[in-house]
Amino acid sequence: MKRLLSGMRPTGSLHLGHLIGALNNWVKLQEKYECFFMIADWHALMSEYENPKSIEKNSMEMLADWIACGVNPKKSTIFVQSHVKEHLELNMVLSCITPLGMLERNPTYKEQLRELKGRHITTYGFLGYPVLQAADILVYKGETVPVGIDQAAHLELAREIVRKFNNLYGKLFPEPETMLNKSTPRLKGLDGRKMSNSYNNFIALSDSPETIEKKVMKMVTYEKKIRRDDPGRPSVCNVFYYYMHTFRPERGRDIHDPCLKGKRGCVECKKELAEILINKLKPICKKRERLLADKAVLLDILKKGDRKAREVASGTMKEVRKKVGVFHGL
Ligand code: TRP
Repeated sequence: MKRLLSGMRPTGSLHLGHLIGALNNWVKLQEKYECFFMIADWHALMSEYENPKSIEKNSMEMLADWIACGVNPKKSTIFVQSHVKEHLELNMVLSCITPLGMLERNPTYKEQLRELKGRHITTYGFLGYPVLQAADILVYKGETVPVGIDQAAHLELAREIVRKFNNLYGKLFPEPETMLNKSTPRLKGLDGRKMSNSYNNFIALSDSPETIEKKVMKMVTYEKKIRRDDPGRPSVCNVFYYYMHTFRPERGRDIHDPCLKGKRGCVECKKELAEILINKLKPICKKRERLLADKAVLLDILKKGDRKAREVASGTMKEVRKKVGVFHGL
């Protein structure tokens, strides 16, 4: 089986976008790959270092969400980045061979500087974000990495670093491939922009039914459909988009014509969508709450995952020391 690695930063609550875009996919990939799923807490620290207390809480909640969504510790290795010291050791070595220009040109670096305006992230650590990400993958010799398109530039950088390492010291690492989820387009947020924690336009996996209903009722449909008998325009309506995206396309097709002809109101559509989403999240919510009520199960998952990850990572670091030729014989 090919080895796969992916991770998420514990910086906020997981939302429907994570479920549809990443987690459902991870759950399927577990059958076909040797999977490593990582809680990237060092990467969270890079942007949250001024208020780092939330990272641990977010990590536990994220883990509960993963498990509740079907990520299975019996099939996959689930671990915490900061519990495996080899990530930072390899990060050190890769830092030595990564030219600054490569990092300064990184488009996500520039974008984050623009977007995370309130945070002071013009730091040495944050500039090195993709180097640590490369180390995360390479320390397990990860061959394929399922990520969103926004991470593609980081993966490209990781491949460049691999080529440089292999050229300098002899072949050790495979070039990790980017696995984009083409079958499911990215889920838009409640306001039609990309669903994101920083836009506050998401439905969290942990939202209560009341919150979900409130959020859905506020969604924008077609601005000129004000009364029930005004003709709608499903093609521009975000509520309709949710039906069609993945949640209930067959129902969406039923609704399409009545909406167009002014025979169906937006409130009806929203009430029904809220119901669909609430039912979809209900089993996940229940499982999540059970896991968080008694953390022993979660801690045990991490203990085992960390141990397995350390085993693989320390093996790779031995090889790295040997290849690079530092302190491997002393
Ligand atoms: N940068 C990723 C994100 O923000 C998280 C991440 C850290 C990651 N290390 C990784 C993803 C290694 C894949 C592989 O989503």
